[in-house]
Amino acid sequence: MKALYEGKCKELFSTEINGELIQLFKDDTTAFDGKKHEVLANKGVLNCAISSFIFEKLHQSDIATHYIRREKNAEMRVHHLNMMPVEIVVRNVAAGSICRRLGLKEGSVLPRPLTELFYKSDELGDPLINEEHADMFGWANKEDVATMFKIALNVNQALCKLFNNVGIQLIDYKLEFGKTKDGSIVLGDEITPDACRLWDQITGKKLDKDVFRQDLGGLTEVYHEVASRLGVTVEMSS
Ligand code: TMP
Ligand code: ASP
Repeated sequence: MKALYEGKCKELFSTEINGELIQLFKDDTTAFDGKKHEVLANKGVLNCAISSFIFEKLHQSDIATHYIRREKNAEMRVHHLNMMPVEIVVRNVAAGSICRRLGLKEGSVLPRPLTELFYKSDELGDPLINEEHADMFGWANKEDVATMFKIALNVNQALCKLFNNVGIQLIDYKLEFGKTKDGSIVLGDEITPDACRLWDQITGKKLDKDVFRQDLGGLTEVYHEVASRLGVTVEMSS
C-alpha cells in the first residue's frame, strides 16, 4: 500500500481499488495542535472500532459518510474524498474553547445545538472563522457551509440518541467533510473520543481526550469504557 497522507493521528493509503483508501488510526495521541504528544498502545484500534460502529449507525440514519468497512486491526476502508480545510464543531453543552472565548461556565447547557466553523491549521491553532472567511479564501463556499451545518445537526440527533442510551452525555464534537467526484458533500475523517467530549451522565466523569489534555488518568481505559458501553468489541494487543 502506498502512503498518500500522514496526519498527527491517522494515515491514508491507496488500495488496489481506485477511489478506495485505507485510513489507519495511529496510537499517536496529540493535543494543543500537536504540542502535547504521546504514543498510547491500542488507542488506534479502539478509535477505529468506535468510529466504524458510529459510521454504521449514521448510515442506518441515512447520513452519508466515507466509511466502507472495517478492515483488520486499526484499518478502515473509506471512499476517497476531496477534503475541505475546515472543521465543523457542534456543541450541546459549553466546554473547552467556547468557555474561554465567551466566558461561559463549563457544563452550562446551550439553548439549542450550536454549529461553529474553524479553519484547519495547526500553525494558526485552528482559528474560529465565519462563512465569509471560508468563502473569500476558497476553503468552502456559503452553500457548502450551509450543507455541512445541516448534516452536522442531523449527526447530532443520531449521536445524542446513541450516547444517551448508554448513559453518556454528548457535550461537543468536531466533524470534517469532503467532496466526492460528483461534487456532493460527504462526512469524512472520524468520530471518536479524540474529537468529542463525552461525560458520564450521572457522575460527570470525562470519557474523552480531555483525560489526556488535562492529565486526568489513563486514556485508553476510558476509550475502552466508551467502546464497551456502546457494545463494540475490540481485540487489543497486550
Ligand atoms: P474546542 O473546545 O477546543 O473548540 O473543541 C470542541 C470540540 O471539537 C472538542 O470535542 C474537541 C473537538 N476538536 C477537535 O477534535 N479538533 C480540533 O481541531 C478542534 C478545533 C476541535
Ligand atoms: N486542537 C485539538 C486539540 O487540542 C486537536 C489537535 O490539536 O490535535 O486537541
